[in-house]
Amino acid sequence: MKIHKHEVIIVGAGGAGLMAALYASEGGADVAVVSKLYPTRSHTGAALGGIGAALGNLEEDKPLWHAYDTVKGGDYLADQNAALVLAEEAIAAVVELEHYGLPFDRTPEGRISQRRFGGHTSNFGEKPVRRACHSADRTGHMILQTLYQQCIKNEVNFFDEFHVVDLIMNDGVCAGVIAIELSTGEFHIFHGKATLFATGGWGRVWSFTSNAHSLTGDGAAVPLRRGIPLEDMEFYQFHPTGLYGLGVLLTEGIRGEGGVLINRHGERFMEKYAPSIKDLASRDVVSRAIYEEVQKGNGINGKDYVHLDLRPATVNRFLAEAGEDRRLTEEDIRRKLAETLDVSRTYAGVDPLKEGIPVKPTAHYAMGGIPTNVDAEVIIDAVGTVVPGLYAAGEAACVSCHGANRLGTNSLVDLVVFGRRGGIKMAEFCKGADWPDLPGSAEQVTAEIRAEFERIRNSNGKIKTYQLREEMQKLMMEGVGVFRTEELMAHTVEQLKDIRHRYMTDLVIDDRGTKFNTDLLEAWELGCLLDSADVTAISALNRKESRGAHSRQDYTERDDDNWMVHTLVYRENEAPYDPEPRYSLNMERPVDVSLADEDERFIPKARVY
Ligand code: FUM
Repeated sequence: MKIHKHEVIIVGAGGAGLMAALYASEGGADVAVVSKLYPTRSHTGAALGGIGAALGNLEEDKPLWHAYDTVKGGDYLADQNAALVLAEEAIAAVVELEHYGLPFDRTPEGRISQRRFGGHTSNFGEKPVRRACHSADRTGHMILQTLYQQCIKNEVNFFDEFHVVDLIMNDGVCAGVIAIELSTGEFHIFHGKATLFATGGWGRVWSFTSNAHSLTGDGAAVPLRRGIPLEDMEFYQFHPTGLYGLGVLLTEGIRGEGGVLINRHGERFMEKYAPSIKDLASRDVVSRAIYEEVQKGNGINGKDYVHLDLRPATVNRFLAEAGEDRRLTEEDIRRKLAETLDVSRTYAGVDPLKEGIPVKPTAHYAMGGIPTNVDAEVIIDAVGTVVPGLYAAGEAACVSCHGANRLGTNSLVDLVVFGRRGGIKMAEFCKGADWPDLPGSAEQVTAEIRAEFERIRNSNGKIKTYQLREEMQKLMMEGVGVFRTEELMAHTVEQLKDIRHRYMTDLVIDDRGTKFNTDLLEAWELGCLLDSADVTAISALNRKESRGAHSRQDYTERDDDNWMVHTLVYRENEAPYDPEPRYSLNMERPVDVSLADEDERFIPKARVY
């Protein structure tokens, strides 16, 4: 078994992982990035419409306004210190990306161009503001390419198609990870002083999702099995505009450019739900509005979708009605929303220049994850105790700057700002830290994970991985989706136990080989999805209020007196693969309200758009 020794080990090669790798290497550390994908196939590439930063290139803007929108959009569960760091450091991060060569779109004067996005306003909610810096509607793709090139320049070591499957802890200190090499099936130990998880989310828990097939929550499940809690997992965001049928993302930038949501009566229905900000309300508000329209029978052709209308004639009519002097042309759409045209034409056979695009809410983003402080250090309890050597950033982490609902564009900000902070912190840490010991020989360290893979490889039951996965996805969509009730969530928690039981006892896989055994890895990933689903459902069932993306029909109000706290869930079993996981909840971590202490505009109040 091969042991690789690098000071910094980064798991995942999306934007957060690459940013952390870049900064750790700039800080002098020897860095390895271990990724189950080829880096430029990471899901950051699917982020489309822009990265938010209060550059003020087209109109006045301020980081404090950005922080306010982030806190308000997060329904006041965001840690306000983290939201301010996010908003303030976004500016330097975007300028830096530009200097690295990222081809942002330009204003006529040559500045970085910016567009509107949901929930982003000027002057504490006064009116929508152009804050999203964009590279057509392929912003994430450009970030990924730019950062990968910089990492190559910095001689970061890449281990592509190495799938991380276990975390090595030694007496409370992180000592690295274990990965399987996809091409050989061999286990490798990555021994490091500092290890950062940047593995993205777990959208594949739900049946209708914008997330790639690879987003199976490995980065949540692996630390959970080794005693690390998960935070605020009940808050999972549904993006309002998933392409009907597939769930593929259609960027909020479409509405930022003036696109509108229309029901079967031709009504711009967001006027009813968010009279002031309309289609640019935050995602939880818009997703619920679409569901309500469909429930009232207002879906297009009586079906469960509405139209996203981008045709210049429609957009310009509404712009004129709003007294705006700008107009949208077909040429603007071809230039700024090229991906939207391609995706709609290719996957839905719809030409957005001629007709409405069919959309419905799609599972998109985890606000919760591995708890960290603002330096990407993983914390293990309600008082913020740091786990030495363990870090997390990006969607896998919960800083928590997004609270109960993330604003569009803030995921890209999150990954560059906190990836960068994590990289800097790890480089500093490595200078002073001794190498942690591995807790035994290579054989001993890998014994449990090898046994689990042998169990799966030799599964000889009747049910295929995809069948159980589909069952779980349907269950989660119905039970822990956009709207939630006690009864449905309790049912989901119980049914997940049944699915897990069958996963442990009645699974069958076809490929028992070692080389490129994606059958085996997919089955292992299903275990991670089940862990993510369990924790999401348990956290959601426990929170008896509605806040942000957690919308309960039996507790319809936000309850600041009792629920201004973060959820921490722990797995209690000693054995990481115990067939009957037990969980405990800790609700003692208060929301940071440091901005509200100084500026009363940050004091929680009802969200009005
Ligand atoms: O709508 C979008 O372009 C998605 C961006 C995001 O999730 O931040």
